[in-house]
Amino acid sequence: MLPLLSALVLALAAPAYAFIECSVLSYGGVADNTTDLGPALTKTWQQCVIPNVNSVNSGVATDVLLYVPAGNYLLASTVTFDDALNWNLHIAGNIYLPFNPSLTGTMLTFENCNNIVLNGPGAIYGNGYRYRPGGDLTLYPNRPRLIRFQNCNNCDISAVTLYDAPMFHVTVIGNNNVVHNQAIIASHIGETDGYDMSGNNNYVHDVNVENGDECVTVKTPTNGFLAENIVCKWTAGCNIGSFGAGNTAVDVQNVVYKNVTVSNSDSGISIKSYPDNAGVVKNISYSGFSFDAAAYPLYVSVFWAGDGDDTGSLQISDVTYTSISGSGTPTRPGVLLDCNKATPCKAIDFSGVSLTDTKANSFTNACGSGLSGLPSC
Ligand SMILES: *[C@@H]1O[C@H](CO)[C@@H](O)[C@H](O)[C@H]1NC(C)=O
Ligand SMILES: *[C@@H]1O[C@H](CO)[C@@H](O)[C@H](O)[C@H]1NC(C)=O
Ligand SMILES: *[C@@H]1O[C@H](CO)[C@@H](O)[C@H](O)[C@H]1NC(C)=O
Repeated sequence: MLPLLSALVLALAAPAYAFIECSVLSYGGVADNTTDLGPALTKTWQQCVIPNVNSVNSGVATDVLLYVPAGNYLLASTVTFDDALNWNLHIAGNIYLPFNPSLTGTMLTFENCNNIVLNGPGAIYGNGYRYRPGGDLTLYPNRPRLIRFQNCNNCDISAVTLYDAPMFHVTVIGNNNVVHNQAIIASHIGETDGYDMSGNNNYVHDVNVENGDECVTVKTPTNGFLAENIVCKWTAGCNIGSFGAGNTAVDVQNVVYKNVTVSNSDSGISIKSYPDNAGVVKNISYSGFSFDAAAYPLYVSVFWAGDGDDTGSLQISDVTYTSISGSGTPTRPGVLLDCNKATPCKAIDFSGVSLTDTKANSFTNACGSGLSGLPSC
């Protein structure tokens, strides 16, 4: 049946739930784990999704699905959906990345998009370990990333399980996007970031990340961000930063993290920058964190990377830590605040913080309340 016709039939049967299904199997996709799914995704989008989104807009149906049915697929080339509006990539199948040293870029990019839903009971298997033989991150430095929403608003990302991307898993840049009820499961090694978020009013909730790098992390610029009900295993924690060397326009404000579990981690909650950064990080709230063997559980440092010269003026202020418990590691401070001499960290407030198995807290150029040894502002 033609997609439009099937939509009409559905519309008659159940108008409120009618949708148009554009299956990759009708546009060159083959569930043989050998045929490249990339061209089929593009063709399905161009020949079925785009034309039918117009029908949705004129009220014929309620949604258009770019549908990857159950089955095994090889995704051997990158796909970019540019100017994507008002449709749903629904992945019910398993998508496998090949090992190909010349494969680079991002496998699935949504660019300049609005109101895109990415969901489905399927999975993407990145086979990232093949790009890092023996844990070597330098052999294929341009290995592919998995998913990127670039300049996208009002998108909803969920479900599809992501396994072991060669590089970062999900990057979201834009406003009012939601990521939820999803798992990322990757090797316990660097450059496997879970969620890197920037923009305004993005929301991440009910996600589980197992990897060896960022769990749910905020990048600049961000104004308004909420993360809740997050589980991070073997990650490098939930961080703000870094902002890149030489960035003098850092702007991160109004960020809330709550109900987060971090275990077996290189880092817990950090705000991390280079010493030459300037700008503002303010009004950040962390509550309900539970740590288990997390190095540097509470960490704010403008010397996270870079040459160590105290030249920057990043103003970090109004950071609150509430109801934080669990264990760190015996060789790292439970709380470390290491800020600029010229621009100290201000109003760093702690309440109900109880950490075990850590070295003594360390405060440099910071003021606040709630911990002994921390000067008041
Ligand atoms: C699909 O192919 C990939 C390699 O390209 C392989 O790793 C994977 O196991 C295959 N999946 C199935 C279900 O055969
Ligand atoms: C906290 O997060 C965990 C893990 O996502 C979830 O199971 C639990 O229900 C959450 N608790 C509350 C009070 O929302
Ligand atoms: C701090 O951020 C929270 C969460 O976004 C917001 O509700 C609150 O109004 C902000 N406070 C100030 C003083 O801007």
